[in-house]
Amino acid sequence: MITHLGPGSHLPAWLEDLDRQCFGEPWGPLDENDHAWASPRNGFARWRVIEAAQEAELLRVAVDPSLRRSGHGRELLRHSEAHLVRMGVATLHLEVRVSNAAARALYEGEGWCFQGIRRAYYRDGEDAALYMKAVGGPPL
Ligand SMILES: CC(C)(COP(=O)(O)OP(=O)(O)OC[C@H]1O[C@@H](n2cnc3c(N)ncnc32)[C@H](O)[C@@H]1OP(=O)(O)O)[C@@H](O)C(=O)NCCC(=O)NCCS
Repeated sequence: MITHLGPGSHLPAWLEDLDRQCFGEPWGPLDENDHAWASPRNGFARWRVIEAAQEAELLRVAVDPSLRRSGHGRELLRHSEAHLVRMGVATLHLEVRVSNAAARALYEGEGWCFQGIRRAYYRDGEDAALYMKAVGGPPL
């Protein structure tokens, strides 16, 4: 079951462990604009919501390495996007390493549109691929 963790919510240890395992260092506590949807011990998606702009940025999505390619990533995206639409979000954004073929295939399969490249976006110099997705939604 996917559960919602709203701003200020405590992050469970398994989520921080998976965050560290996938990205080297955990992002940290959910700040006042952050929302996460978590499937206990399977994976999570973390978003930053800019309510005034009706936008949300996908900060991270991660699935336990032993459970990948079983649909969890897709489910986490669909579930969290549906909630974001109910919150009034109309446009989604993300950046991803250009080399991250698995994530890019997931996003493209879920209807995200490639917007371009941001050169040397990451600390190690790798470029970022930018994506957006219009999801509609009523005004806030
Ligand atoms: C990206 C990630 C979240 C995908 O999660 P997942 O649960 O394995 O993905 P799903 O099983 O839902 O896959 C959905 C679709 O994405 C694409 N996809 C996922 N993994 C893929 C891979 N290794 N190679 C190619 N396509 C892939 C496929 O189109 C797949 O559909 P299909 O299995 O029907 O062909 C996972 O690989 C992960 O945690 N990676 C490390 C963290 C990361 O890089 N996150 C993204 C940047 S924030």
